[in-house]
Amino acid sequence: MKSLIEKLTQTPGPPGYEKLIREVIQAEIEDYADEIHVDALGNLIARKGSPSTEGKRIMLAAHMDEIGVIATHIDENGFIRFTNMGGIYPHYAPGGRVRFLDGTPGVIGTEKTENSYKVPPLDKMYIDVGAAGRDDCPIKVGDVAVFERPLTEMGDRLVSKAMDDRISVAIMIEALKMLNNPPHEIYFVFSVQEEVGVRGATTAAFGVDPELGLALDVTRTGDTPKGITMEVALGAGPAIKVKDSGMISDPRIVDWMVRTAERAKLPYQLEVLERGGTDARAIQLTRSGVPAGCLSIPCRYVHSPSEMVDFNDVQNALKLLVALLSDSIDLA
Ligand code: CO
Ligand code: ZN
Repeated sequence: MKSLIEKLTQTPGPPGYEKLIREVIQAEIEDYADEIHVDALGNLIARKGSPSTEGKRIMLAAHMDEIGVIATHIDENGFIRFTNMGGIYPHYAPGGRVRFLDGTPGVIGTEKTENSYKVPPLDKMYIDVGAAGRDDCPIKVGDVAVFERPLTEMGDRLVSKAMDDRISVAIMIEALKMLNNPPHEIYFVFSVQEEVGVRGATTAAFGVDPELGLALDVTRTGDTPKGITMEVALGAGPAIKVKDSGMISDPRIVDWMVRTAERAKLPYQLEVLERGGTDARAIQLTRSGVPAGCLSIPCRYVHSPSEMVDFNDVQNALKLLVALLSDSIDLA
């Protein structure tokens, strides 16, 4: 699974430009899904299982896209001004490397500031691709790039760019492979454009028209020095979302997830995330509403080029997901 995680995190896929990562995922699942299609926005939707009287139509969602940047202006010296696609924190940017979709690498630099210890906003930064001038610059306005950072193993911890949300993509791929004859009609949605406002999941949820929805995404942790106050810790098990700033999980879904984790003797944590949201919001609010929840993977340094997860959490999230989908579901 680690080599799959490496392949998924290292493939670029900024919002709206998910073609490359979609092809990687499609190749992985082709032999295991009952049916695969790509919708108009680019969501990759794979069905496993068929409708039955006791089973439900379930939508799972993990987003394929990752935060990125887009070129807005090239100056006469060949330096590129850019803006964010999704939540880029200025303090993680300077000195970092990016790579454009055509393969061109770049370094993020900043203008001189009054106080060199203060982080300037993104519009005081630029990307240097080593060009001698505008005519020599291979990048044009509208070209997109993502952070460049390899996957590194630190004991049980895995660090890379784009763990948000490729770690959940990896878990969904493995679950799809493991589930044999599930009692439900399950749609595995690898969604687009989550980072710019859960846009892909919005159309996918309407199309799938599920009876129950689960998103898989990373969540933040409260276990770093003077970090945010939050119960979730790395390595203490996958998190069952109770609430974030975009949704309140259906309490029946939370109960079902907790019951299943306890029955399977899997570690879990309850999550209240005060800032952030996931594809679950779009599922919950589609059409006339759907009971929805979210299985979260604890992750440090979310939206930095070095997002850190614990491999035990990843494996336990996979086990919990498979357990959730293997039996009939009683939401009473
Ligand atoms: Co994100
Ligand atoms: Zn995410």
